[in-house]
Amino acid sequence: MMYLSQTDPELAQLIQRELVREQEGLELIPSENIVSRAVLEALGSVGTNKYSEGYPGKRYYGGCEAVDAVENLARDRAKALFGVTHANVQPHSGSPANQAVCFALLNPGDTLMGMHLYAGGHMTHGLELNFSGTYYHSVQYTARQDGYIDINEMRALAQEHKPKLIIVGGTAYPRIYEWTLYKEIADEVGAYLLADISHVAGLIVGGQHPTPVGIADVITTTTHKTLRGPRGAMILCNGEESDYLKPPPEKSRKYLPTMIDRAIIPGLQGGPHNHQTAAIAVALHEAAQPEFKEYAEQIVINAKALADSLLQYDFHLVTGGTDNHLLLVDLTNKGIPGKVAEKALVDAGLTVNKNTVPHDPRKPYDPSGIRLGTPTLTTRGMKKEEMKKVGQYINRVLSAPDDARVIETVRQEVKDLCAQFPIYPDLSYL
Ligand SMILES: Cc1ncc(COP(=O)(O)O)c(C=O)c1O
Repeated sequence: MMYLSQTDPELAQLIQRELVREQEGLELIPSENIVSRAVLEALGSVGTNKYSEGYPGKRYYGGCEAVDAVENLARDRAKALFGVTHANVQPHSGSPANQAVCFALLNPGDTLMGMHLYAGGHMTHGLELNFSGTYYHSVQYTARQDGYIDINEMRALAQEHKPKLIIVGGTAYPRIYEWTLYKEIADEVGAYLLADISHVAGLIVGGQHPTPVGIADVITTTTHKTLRGPRGAMILCNGEESDYLKPPPEKSRKYLPTMIDRAIIPGLQGGPHNHQTAAIAVALHEAAQPEFKEYAEQIVINAKALADSLLQYDFHLVTGGTDNHLLLVDLTNKGIPGKVAEKALVDAGLTVNKNTVPHDPRKPYDPSGIRLGTPTLTTRGMKKEEMKKVGQYINRVLSAPDDARVIETVRQEVKDLCAQFPIYPDLSYL
């Protein structure tokens, strides 16, 4: 057998370069994580060789016995972990999952309502440039000046526009989602409620965030953020299944599972990525272990500790702090644009992303803030003490973003800290 390093050393070098970057730096992007060796192994498995359009027991290809069992395992684990009757584990990622829900529940031109990107929503929640704002009539709610979701505005817009679908769940919202409030508003106007828990799924299964199960009509989640799985997504719901090969007897809440399944295939996708499904199954098994609860708890403890550290240095946190895994820092008072801050911090070994803040006068490519998160550092075993150090590094770099000596000194300290928390000690491509 030939290894990658023998057949394609150029590519192997690049993967090695990424491994070294992840090992030697502090990954503070809240939508990222470090998966286990077991997840990596499943992801690199022979499932990638197999086509299996359809669902277990109803495939359009032969030879699906093993991949049927893999997909059933992933579905059963998802159902048990989240407490739902139906799980579709085939969406290739979070955006297609949201697209499938829109395809299942709406007709082109119908009204949907979601949180604006600037306020922390995701593109697929109705941004005008996205499919969700192009093929549907999109109404966008925002956040209040203090950064919390503006419930009054959400209610007023819902009453005015009567959306068929309300989407809640963002990419940069540092507080708890109050599912029952959103459901109340959805019920007032007869809308479906979609809870996009991509960011907080791991916190939900770890008991650190309220679950939308039993409240929202449909739930989408990526599998690669706090849930610590491979890139991928799932759509979860309750309801009755009718024969997948025919349209359900009626388009209604009753037959949501079949509407969702048919929206994924034949609606949007072809063959599922069986290696990805296998890796999702592994991640779900890991998330069901008691240690995962401790992990989720530590993520939040660490985020609060990082918030405390930054507040000490007079950083302005949107909403004043965090209840979950992420922080949104408004750098206006520091006079540093988010883009400049991102560059200086990345140079110092702290990977963050620039981000808009609610009511940002600047544009997404050059916004006023940065977004930070603790899932990756927590996976590495870091605790409150290290968060204090991270806050201090950030302060030192952003107090002198143009000073190459400061950046180099911090970079070395970051590297030394990271050496104490190895990510894949036995992994090398060379
Ligand atoms: C809330 C939310 N929904 C959906 C997505 C889309 O996921 P993907 O990037 O896998 O398409 C993201 C990704 O950042 C997200 O944060």
